[in-house]
Amino acid sequence: MSRKKPSVKERQRVALHTAWKSVSSPEGKPKVGIEEFMSLSERWGFSKKTLKKIREALKEEDWGEGPFLVNYYSDVEESKVREYERTAREIFGTKHALGLSSGTAALHCAFVACGIGPGDEVICPAVGYVATASSVILAGGTPVLCDVDETLTLDPDRIEELITDRTVAIAPTPVMGNLCDMDSILKIARKRHLRVIEDAAQSCGATYHGKWAGTLGDIGCFSIAAYKIIGGGEGGLLLTNDKGLYERAQQFSEGGGLWRENRFGKAVHEGELFCGTNYRMSELEAALNVVQLRKMPGIVERFRKVRDRVLKHLGDFEGIRLQPSHDYEGEMGYAIRFYPETFDLGEKIVPDLQALGVRCGWIGREEWPDWHLASDMIEVLKRRDPQRFSGLHPERARTGTPRADDYYRRIVTVHLNQWMKAKDCKELANQMNTVFSKYSGRHRDRGKKPTVR
Ligand SMILES: Cc1ncc(COP(=O)(O)O)c(C=O)c1O
Repeated sequence: MSRKKPSVKERQRVALHTAWKSVSSPEGKPKVGIEEFMSLSERWGFSKKTLKKIREALKEEDWGEGPFLVNYYSDVEESKVREYERTAREIFGTKHALGLSSGTAALHCAFVACGIGPGDEVICPAVGYVATASSVILAGGTPVLCDVDETLTLDPDRIEELITDRTVAIAPTPVMGNLCDMDSILKIARKRHLRVIEDAAQSCGATYHGKWAGTLGDIGCFSIAAYKIIGGGEGGLLLTNDKGLYERAQQFSEGGGLWRENRFGKAVHEGELFCGTNYRMSELEAALNVVQLRKMPGIVERFRKVRDRVLKHLGDFEGIRLQPSHDYEGEMGYAIRFYPETFDLGEKIVPDLQALGVRCGWIGREEWPDWHLASDMIEVLKRRDPQRFSGLHPERARTGTPRADDYYRRIVTVHLNQWMKAKDCKELANQMNTVFSKYSGRHRDRGKKPTVR
């Protein structure tokens, strides 16, 4: 007897029902219930008294079959991952957004989506984080590390000399809430027919000439994680306006197409389906991070206001140069950074600032392996299995990346707090002025918003 093929909706409903059955215990208690919720609540650090109250309140609840913490089945109810992706699309205005388990996952998906593989070279910055270059390697390609300018982002003047007939993409990385010189980078990319994959992991909320960092190239990748300005646990985000790139990234992130849009459909074109990973974002992380995403515009606005207030009162001193910017207004503004002219000067200024209680730091002449700097990351990148990856070797720019080494070690970061009041800002600027004036003379005011070019 021939049976009518069930509709997609029907099959999803059956799949959902089957999954629900598997989550309940024989006694009818939900698989995920009070104990799991209490475990989460403990992680919030509530007092014993509050935890007891929460437990009592939870006992009153009818838990039914308990929560089903998966990100699909969204025809029943919008999952938190779907809400996170929708929120990202609404905020950033891109056609597609993909929630992922980490920023590294987003980068790996992005490079695979762009078809980067053996023999392909991608230009990555000498300052950023090793995940950008290592994701190129994981995709099968070869990173070429390029020197940076004083903003610690890819120096467009150094890019062209690194382009070979194997180069297929550039991965500008707006580090530390800063911005890359995207006009120049995009111009080179267009001229040389290269993909642009932005690693905006550290700059979620920065804008370049009014456009969000991460939306300027073919794909933008973000880390939405606890150690970033925006993010509560671990998480990643990939943005693109290109449907084809989105579909490839989604497929690669999700078992090679298991949950692609046309879930039960056959492949329509050759090469549509290919082997993938599981970089799914967890529902719990999405529940947290969707809230973080919504807070992003407010957080960035407060930081920028604080930064502007501090800079208004900050003097301009010989031998102490504020870090220049490719778009001062658009930076995240969560720190003020400056370059002491010499390491000797930095070694005087930094401890003095810290002694006054200013939250600041630098690397200076300290030597420790740092996965954010080419000279250190290259050692890790080279230690990959040559049998499994492309025959080419990851390399630093043939001339080395001397400016990255110098700038990254010499820059001093003064951390700001988004909740600082006007008087706190003035006090911080006065503390900085006091220390700076001890070691150098004041310039006449030359303006507080230096730009690179
Ligand atoms: C520039 C940059 N890219 C990528 C990543 C990787 O993000 P995740 O830690 O979420 O994998 C980070 C994280 O620190 C980063 O700073």
